[in-house]
Amino acid sequence: MDRRKTWLFAITILAALSLLVAACGGAAPPAPTEAPAPTEAPASAPTEAPAEPTEAPTEAPAEPTEAPTEPTEAPAEATEPAASAGGQLEIFSWWTNPGEADGLAALFDIYQQQNPGVEIINATVSGGAGTNAKTVLVTRMQGGDPPDSFQVHAGQELIGTWVVADKMEPITELFEEEGWNEVMPQTLLDQITYNGEIYSVPVNIHRSNVLWYNKQIFEENNLEPPTTIDEFFQVAEALQAAGVTPLAVGGKDKFETPHLFESVLLATFGPDDYAQLFQDPAMWEDPRVQEAAETAQRMLEYANEDRASLSWADAAQTVLDGKAAMTIMGDWAEGYFLGKGAVPNEDFGWVAAPGTDGVFMWLSDSFGLPVGAPNRDNAVAWLRVLGSREGQDAFNPKKGSIPARTDPDLSLYDEYLQWSIEQFASNALAPSVVHGAAANEAYMSAYGNALNVFAADLDVDSLLQSLLDASADLQG
Ligand code: GAL
Repeated sequence: MDRRKTWLFAITILAALSLLVAACGGAAPPAPTEAPAPTEAPASAPTEAPAEPTEAPTEAPAEPTEAPTEPTEAPAEATEPAASAGGQLEIFSWWTNPGEADGLAALFDIYQQQNPGVEIINATVSGGAGTNAKTVLVTRMQGGDPPDSFQVHAGQELIGTWVVADKMEPITELFEEEGWNEVMPQTLLDQITYNGEIYSVPVNIHRSNVLWYNKQIFEENNLEPPTTIDEFFQVAEALQAAGVTPLAVGGKDKFETPHLFESVLLATFGPDDYAQLFQDPAMWEDPRVQEAAETAQRMLEYANEDRASLSWADAAQTVLDGKAAMTIMGDWAEGYFLGKGAVPNEDFGWVAAPGTDGVFMWLSDSFGLPVGAPNRDNAVAWLRVLGSREGQDAFNPKKGSIPARTDPDLSLYDEYLQWSIEQFASNALAPSVVHGAAANEAYMSAYGNALNVFAADLDVDSLLQSLLDASADLQG
């Protein structure tokens, strides 16, 4: 199939999937907005209205790149190899950049030690936030060609897209066997539970609303990192006067300006009203949406103009190189910086995105068990690694995320991550819309398209209209 045909096929499939979603009356659980309480009662069945139909992203999918990974270490003596019959394990993700690819490799190493006879197929489709990968995945799933396990965000992305369409096997028993219900926050368990069954293993918790900055530039210019929107503009003005690009923003991966805007919305609305934006479409007529759009417009006026050609990682690199002073990105940027050999609090610093201090905008990467996984036993063994303390403590310090488990070996986590662990426990929580936690796929796609157009034209009025139109895709 050529790309156009693949694309048409994906749209057809998505339409069919949408009908299924509507027919099943499926609903994803509400996204948590409070700090976790690990001792609460088990998740109850979600009670919300059905998810809206899913829509396809606007770009043709990239071709998947598949390459078996070589085991990099001999099996550790302490680790008991599982009684594995060999065969393959195909893992599908979009983790191709420094940091995220390193974290994935660390998981593969553990898996390989425990399952020496299994050949791992690392099926990645590059493109931040999975904009390309998700399209390829839909085509594969509907074509009866699922990978053994795939990356999916906990929350609406998992439940609304795959679970209600009966494409995932419940793994509730695995959770019971492994005791994971006792070591993961209830608020997170709620995001992977549907009708009393659990459907994926969260491997981490990421924070979306972080401002990363080049420490040397700030020191040389005698500046403090901005904590409010007003301070952001004061600092940006000073940096511009000093000949430094204040803000690095990507655009190539088609999620970077949408990502920036979710932090601006959070700053403008506060955590409670921000969460309401994705529950109540009428919220998009609130005058604060215009305020947020004008703030984003001003911010982008202080950003690099070549953003359409830079990925989020390229933008992060310009901060590392001292070509730009700041970037607002999820903490996979920390993983990227570490992967490039940078030292936290020396080469780069961080604060909450301007105006969002005290709120942790969360998202969680998870993996599940697709119905019809070709190597089901190997996939279950993979899920066991993901949920284990050993797996999470190997993955997260490289990925720039905090573990989904509440019992990590803290000594393995750097200064940023220890800060983040403390913040997750004490802050108000808000769900990320761009990374699958807050809203269904149809809405995410419409919101993303609106912001990507805005990234190029900076037209506030047309952004407001597109956001209003997009709100029709929210559940009532
Ligand atoms: C997010 C994902 C992260 C990271 C990032 C950049 O959606 O949750 O793990 O991969 O995209 O691609």
